[in-house]
Amino acid sequence: METTMQNISIEKTEKTKIDQVDFDNLAFGSVFTDHMLVCDYRNGAWEVPQIMPYQAISLEPSAKIFHYGQSIFEGMKAYKDADEKIWLFRPLENHKRLNISAKRMAIPELPEEFFMDGLKQLIKLDENWIPKKEGSALYIRPFIFATGKGFHASPADEYKFIICLAPSGPYFSGKVKVLIEEKYSRSANGGVGFAKAGGNYAGQFFPTQLAVKKGYQQVIWTDDHNHEFIEEAGAMNIFVRINDTLITAPISDRILDGITRKSILPIAEDEGITTEVRKITVGEVVEAAKNGSLKEMFGAGTAAVISPIATFGYREVDYDLPELESSFASRLKKRIIDIQYNRAEDLFGWRHGV
Ligand code: PLP
Ligand code: COI
Repeated sequence: METTMQNISIEKTEKTKIDQVDFDNLAFGSVFTDHMLVCDYRNGAWEVPQIMPYQAISLEPSAKIFHYGQSIFEGMKAYKDADEKIWLFRPLENHKRLNISAKRMAIPELPEEFFMDGLKQLIKLDENWIPKKEGSALYIRPFIFATGKGFHASPADEYKFIICLAPSGPYFSGKVKVLIEEKYSRSANGGVGFAKAGGNYAGQFFPTQLAVKKGYQQVIWTDDHNHEFIEEAGAMNIFVRINDTLITAPISDRILDGITRKSILPIAEDEGITTEVRKITVGEVVEAAKNGSLKEMFGAGTAAVISPIATFGYREVDYDLPELESSFASRLKKRIIDIQYNRAEDLFGWRHGV
């Protein structure tokens, strides 16, 4: 057991599992590194985090997470450059968003130093797990959930903050086919759509299963009111290119304020691409697909990076997007990953050394 500057105790594993991992064939988020960080909230305060071997945790059956779903999470990645230096991408934005989600779900906010110091120490300890293969990265999953006991439907008095690390390959395999959803809704005005709350994802599973049965991987969510506007996908914000203009929906109560989305906008401007942040109607996208002015659609997110959409389905019709030689998606993806891997100048000050 070691004690670090921040008094974070570190208990190291006796035997690493790294030799059991096939780093050339990593799926997304399905193997976990040797260690995790755990921090408890008790008696009205967050206690000092501990780093320990990755292990199962035990909870009371009455823990409120099981009954009332008080649970939030974040998604980030760590990258290694050619000199083996480790980088994070805009991690303070993830911390800020975690606390935005926490506030909405009546979870106590987490101090920045617990998040940042804990994260960096955990990554340093498991740095050999950061994949080197292009397209792979160390996916980071910080999350908070209610451990406090009781069936009373009110916020818990105890919580756990955990960070787990998962060396991961791409989120999607093969061409991405999405379905524009008109029956189910992901979120509503005044709801929790802008929070990264666990239940937001559970609520999507059933409609997504229906879409998967029809041959699509993801649902494109539209507004809950009239299903008139394209909002976001299950795990990504959405961009649409009509002629040479790149359009994305404005952030609202119903949409997650994606860090990839808000990084793409200034990069696109820097590339000389005209961008618009405005409501996108399903009607204009279908019309643009019919008349040939719809050039691209892509999803953007930490896990998905920039994932071009090959086909979208709407009212039983599939619309194929053209295969472009030089797409905005590929230009923007290169720009963003070159910043993330420290291969390009960090124009906007987004890279954060570990
Ligand atoms: N929208 C949803 C619903 C998501 O789950 C994600 C993934 O985190 C995003 C958008 C993209 O957000 P970010 O770019 O911060 O990962
Ligand atoms: C991420 O991109 O980090 C996400 O949180 C998406 C996740 C639901 C896989």
